[in-house]
Amino acid sequence: MATAREILAGKKNAASPKSHYKETFLDKCSKFHSFHMSYMSTLNIQNPYMRVVDPPASPVVLKNGKTLIMLGSNNYLGFSTHPAVKKEVKRTVEMYGTGSCSSRPLAGTTSLHIKLERELSNFKRTEATLLFSTGYMTMMGTISALAGENDFVLSDQLNHASIIDGIRLSRAQAKIYKHNDMESLEQNLASIDPEANKLIVTDGVFSIKGDIASLPEIKKLADKYNALVMVDDAHGTGILGEKGHGIVEHYHMEGQIDIVGSTFSKVFSTVGGAVGAKKEIIDFLRFNSRPFVFTASLPPSVIATVLASLRILKRSTHLIKKLRKNVKFLREGLLDLNFRIGINPTPIIPLFIGDDVKTLKMAAELEGEGIFINPVVPPGVSVESSLLRISVMASLSQEELEFALDKFKLVGKKLGLI
Ligand SMILES: Cc1ncc(COP(=O)(O)O)c(C=O)c1O
Repeated sequence: MATAREILAGKKNAASPKSHYKETFLDKCSKFHSFHMSYMSTLNIQNPYMRVVDPPASPVVLKNGKTLIMLGSNNYLGFSTHPAVKKEVKRTVEMYGTGSCSSRPLAGTTSLHIKLERELSNFKRTEATLLFSTGYMTMMGTISALAGENDFVLSDQLNHASIIDGIRLSRAQAKIYKHNDMESLEQNLASIDPEANKLIVTDGVFSIKGDIASLPEIKKLADKYNALVMVDDAHGTGILGEKGHGIVEHYHMEGQIDIVGSTFSKVFSTVGGAVGAKKEIIDFLRFNSRPFVFTASLPPSVIATVLASLRILKRSTHLIKKLRKNVKFLREGLLDLNFRIGINPTPIIPLFIGDDVKTLKMAAELEGEGIFINPVVPPGVSVESSLLRISVMASLSQEELEFALDKFKLVGKKLGLI
């Protein structure tokens, strides 16, 4: 049997049943299990995924009684533990109870849902907004409803799975262009029948490396080839732009992007998502997007979390400024230590290692020294693209950041990375 490393290096196939039907469901699961175990045991490392940490998304978390500085959460502005947010959530649960127990079209629409849709239209500068139960469902449910068999969706090679799955479900023809490469996008656009419906979809902030889409250039090409543009602003909402309105504010492109998706699982520190667009598009989705129609609506506590966070964001930009200060400090510290990192206007700092074993070892060693960090290795990326994905929060103190830098130095030297 091929080893996991051989399979990952593309030298052998993971599954090579003689006939498609010889592999039972159980065979398939067992094969996956042995692949996974073989990978971890080859590397002689504890599985770094699904580590149990409490409470989640705090600057300091507990794992098996040991405290760890959290550099792996997307709770960028620290709203998850913000006293005003927690107070609002408690008040709302007292008034509204715990859940809606119904889908939006039936008994699951409250005045809170309508209020949040209005507030988000205002914040994201869109004509209308529709809430979804997760960010994943937002992107998947928008694309799959809007595009159909005869349409074309142009998608960046590094787009999030929610976009990829939306395209699959839509049965539209997918045209994958090279990452943020306008020449490749234009070649794809030019190859499509000018009469056909075309939707260009891109992550705003790419979730692994934290780089941002060239939205002005994408829009220019969209206008030239008569295509709509959809941006997934999951990691840009609350972060990019002077007031945190997102990637559209960052590029001063208010009113120019047709469809803007957001999630509530990053800055808004809860679960859920929303799409903003023209009224006609939102009305269409309200009746035709299956992930909107056929699932329970967001519980009141979630809506209260987002409303309270929006209120804080509107009142002051001090958390955004604190976040940028923290990112700058950590980034400069890592550069001074000679680590190879990506430079982006976002709180995601990719620390490039270029080897899966070293990446996993570094994450494990850092955990031993009191730092929680996410390794990104195959099958998420190729072996050579393995990296540590550092995400910074405004709620991290200067002392915690300094402690983290000391540990990066210690472990980086130990593994011969610096
Ligand atoms: C770019 C992007 N889009 C969509 C999602 C899905 O959002 P959620 O986790 O809120 O469902 C994520 C989450 O990882 C993301 O990074």
